[in-house]
Amino acid sequence: MKPAGEVLPTGFLGRSARIVQLRAQIERIGMGRAPVLIQGESGTGKEVAARSLYNANPTGLFVPIDCGSLVGPLMESELFGHARHAFTGAGETKRGLLELANNGTAFFDEIGDLPYELQVKLLRVLQEREFRPVGSLQRVRVDVRIIAATHRNLEREVAAGRFREDLFHRLNVIRLTLPPLRERKEDIPLLVERFLLHPVNRYTITNEALEAMIRYDWPGNIRELKNCIDRMMTMNTGPLLHFTDLPSNVIYHVRAGTGMEIAAAAGGGAGGGAAGAARGIPLPRATSFTHGVVPLQELERRAIEHALQQTRGDRTEAALLLGIGRTTLYRKLKEYQGSEDAAGSARSAAC
Ligand SMILES: Nc1ncnc2c1ncn2[C@@H]1O[C@H](COP(=O)(O)OP(=O)(O)OP(=O)(O)O)[C@@H](O)[C@H]1O
Ligand SMILES: [Mg+2]
Repeated sequence: MKPAGEVLPTGFLGRSARIVQLRAQIERIGMGRAPVLIQGESGTGKEVAARSLYNANPTGLFVPIDCGSLVGPLMESELFGHARHAFTGAGETKRGLLELANNGTAFFDEIGDLPYELQVKLLRVLQEREFRPVGSLQRVRVDVRIIAATHRNLEREVAAGRFREDLFHRLNVIRLTLPPLRERKEDIPLLVERFLLHPVNRYTITNEALEAMIRYDWPGNIRELKNCIDRMMTMNTGPLLHFTDLPSNVIYHVRAGTGMEIAAAAGGGAGGGAAGAARGIPLPRATSFTHGVVPLQELERRAIEHALQQTRGDRTEAALLLGIGRTTLYRKLKEYQGSEDAAGSARSAAC
């Protein structure tokens, strides 16, 4: 769940091919009014995607509706409003969230949690573009774009009888599936760089810590990565954040999975470079940077290295994954080869 008061970025950050493609889809889909269903694990950016869809063509208001909080006797009136004296304590006429979203966008967050009774009423809004507030004889016409998000598999919810099949089909007009962070690790350096931006302090991260972050699988996805960095910045005055400043679960996971590599990396050894070289990819040795700060070029080199590992050395696929042209990838690899050769000659000259 989102911490209260959190400011969500409007841009959908990422350089991986899947995110580049997703951004283009969002731009295109955002121009229309058809319902969109966003599916993705917890913390993958479903709300960021919904807001980006709205921002592509911002008409009216963006009204987030937390379906999990629509419980109890007032849930229907929350959503559809009520007439004056509709029930004890109703007082004056009240407009519901859907009316508030008229000419704009209603974002049904965690639609899988929408109570069954409200699913029927929402279906009617999608079909007829109108509804009746609680206790009212008058119908209210609305033009609302519906964006729904869920971390659940809605097909399974339908099969289990917890979600109405007709509503599912109405919502599932355009589907956006957000990839988990572990499937687009090449985006980690960019996200880390962004989350390290601090209003007061200037933080940087050591290469060992960044490497560990790339190895870790982030089950809580971007939210977990962001929380991890926020926590490291809160606990440390900086400016450098080290491997040992990482949360213990990350350290434990990484040590358990790749103990030797991390030990080598922590000792300034040839962790990442060796992995690349083992597949015949000419990459420089891991460098010990001044004060352990990772320069941007190095982050880029690691993203390329990771993409090549993921595609088992297939450069065309790796370029696609990185969202860069094949020629650019070849040029960069040539540059790395050049600096590796130069370092090699310098080493032999020194012997
Ligand atoms: N592409 C992105 N670029 C930058 N920040 C992102 C991106 N995606 C997500 N975030 C950040 O990650 C956090 C989680 O994003 P969001 O709330 O949109 O995810 P969610 O899928 O709705 O999560 P939950 O299932 O927990 O509700 C937020 O702090 C958000 O700012
Ligand atoms: Mg959410």
